[in-house]
Amino acid sequence: MRQTDDRPPAPRPCPARRPDRAPTVALALAALALTAALPAAANGPGLSPGPTPGPTPDAARSDALVRMVRQDCGSCHGMQLTGGLGPALTREALADKPLEGLVATIYRGRPGTPMPGWQSMLSEPEAQWIAERLMAGFPQEKMR
Ligand code: HEC
Repeated sequence: MRQTDDRPPAPRPCPARRPDRAPTVALALAALALTAALPAAANGPGLSPGPTPGPTPDAARSDALVRMVRQDCGSCHGMQLTGGLGPALTREALADKPLEGLVATIYRGRPGTPMPGWQSMLSEPEAQWIAERLMAGFPQEKMR
């Protein structure tokens, strides 16, 4: 391919380095790293890349999950989730906590504490969905 006059002269790419592909790959990697870094940054250093946002359960299931959190979790964490036997689960209270840890606590419980695991009631993505919603400020139950 010959250089045209309106383009600035560019050095011939060295065939071994494929500089024509490298920027694309680097850009894709940078985008990937950025995506991975966002939740990781929120979770503080030293953690594996944060989980990507979980799938959203369908409307009926999310209503059921909201009701469960308000009622079953509320029995220990307070009906407004502001704390009781268990600590507050408000947005403010959870602000600095890593999402992974909250998901693990909900899904597996905290051995040696009254916090039970909910694996028999929830899938792990649902535990993550709840943790994400708690961190954002948990929704109220829908009136029926
Ligand atoms: C039997 C009482 C009880 C029930 C029911 C309960 N929890 Fe807990 N939960 C606790 C206690 C106690 C702790 C604190 C454990 C500890 O000391 O580390 C806790 C801790 C947590 C934490 C970690 C909070 C933090 O600040 O790290 C989350 C998140 C949580 N519970 C969510 C839930 C959710 C969601 C439910 C319902 C699906 C639920 N809990 C139901 C007692 C309960």
